[in-house]
Amino acid sequence: MQMPDAPFPILLIGSGGREHALAAAIARSPSCSRLFVAPGNPGTAALAQNVVLDVADHAAVADFCRLMGVKLVVVGPEAPLVAGLVDDLEAAGIAAFGPRRIPAQLEGSKSFTKALCTECGIPTAAYARFEDAQAARDYIRANGAPIVVKADGLAAGKGVVVAETVDEAIAAIDMMFSGGLGAAGEAVVIEEFMAGEEASFFAISDGTDAIAFGTAQDHKRVGDGDTGPNTGGMGAYSPAPVLTPELEATVMREIVLPTVAGLKARGTPYVGVLYAGLMITQGGPRLIEYNARFGDPECQVLMTRFTGDIVAVMRAACEGRIRQAKASWSPDPALTVVMAARGYPGTPARGGAIEGIAEAESLPGVTVFHAGTALKDGALVASGGRVLNVTARGATVREARDRAYAAVDRIRWADGFCRRDIGWRAVAREG
Ligand code: AMP
Ligand code: GLY
Repeated sequence: MQMPDAPFPILLIGSGGREHALAAAIARSPSCSRLFVAPGNPGTAALAQNVVLDVADHAAVADFCRLMGVKLVVVGPEAPLVAGLVDDLEAAGIAAFGPRRIPAQLEGSKSFTKALCTECGIPTAAYARFEDAQAARDYIRANGAPIVVKADGLAAGKGVVVAETVDEAIAAIDMMFSGGLGAAGEAVVIEEFMAGEEASFFAISDGTDAIAFGTAQDHKRVGDGDTGPNTGGMGAYSPAPVLTPELEATVMREIVLPTVAGLKARGTPYVGVLYAGLMITQGGPRLIEYNARFGDPECQVLMTRFTGDIVAVMRAACEGRIRQAKASWSPDPALTVVMAARGYPGTPARGGAIEGIAEAESLPGVTVFHAGTALKDGALVASGGRVLNVTARGATVREARDRAYAAVDRIRWADGFCRRDIGWRAVAREG
């Protein structure tokens, strides 16, 4: 799977704000001669060529790559990874950045990750897995609350209930086992509750080794003050001040590198972005979960700070020489505010007109990434739950936050809402 030294065409898979941010970084790489995004969104259309491809049809993706001379496929979201898109592209002789089907189980199956943690001595919450509701209820009664109930499969961020009481935990078990989350809830993992501050840690692995690739903190709850239901993420900032350089070294040594070594030893090496969701507890960093991709919206703030050549980094990972990759970052923090459509994370209001993005982007340090937008008769409209990621850099998190909210206030969209407190922990730390 040779990638040429001359610039080559690249295909990026996905349609969210993460992919708009990745598209911007890939498009500015000297290695990229032409960028396709499948399916993309109106934001990626301004930087790349959006293409209609059935991503579930792996042979069709490989045919497209051959036809267009694509030498690298970058997979944004988890579903195609878990479905084995990378395995099938590689079998067709096309390099792809992202883990193969089995190592992508780090995200696809909570019990896969838990078993690997046990095998490799990675610090995480104690847990048990159940396929039987009564046994799960008994375990909860025996252990008490707070306790955490998780659907074992992929549930788009909605399969986790942090239960404050035994009754709440049992209600979650009943919901999952009665099919409330579809097949994702056929088995559940019940975990010890970990207290601390959460942070996201990113690494890029070549299957044998890994480099740290930035930190961020996101805001999962829909409402101000971290209230209301969980979402895919309502805003984020990078870096995460809670992760000091010493803690970052601990995370690499105790969590990331043992994971990479463990998967390699099993004969299923992990190539791609390893996104560790961490709890920084009194006893040090512990793993909450892994994702097999960049976070969304964390990617938007990472790519805003990244000053290197992302294609060179991805290529080094695919070619087994990640140590040679150079990751350089702006020291300035970046912060993004997600504008979502009324109704999210339930059924979002669709079709409302959005104006003012150019005015928002005229402010210093501001970029607006598109997520769930579409063009209708030439006008920009909302077409999803999370719709825009209003992103800003600043000398401090406070400045980045003030710039991002000034930009939010330039956007005219009747159905849109956002949290007003993104970055509160980091701003409080700045004093
Ligand atoms: P997950 O999808 O596994 O990241 O879980 C979603 C959210 O639930 C996390 O971001 C945490 O806020 C919370 N959470 C998950 N597992 C635990 C745990 N063992 N202890 C405390 N909070 C947890
Ligand atoms: N923002 C959380 C995630 O991407 O999973």
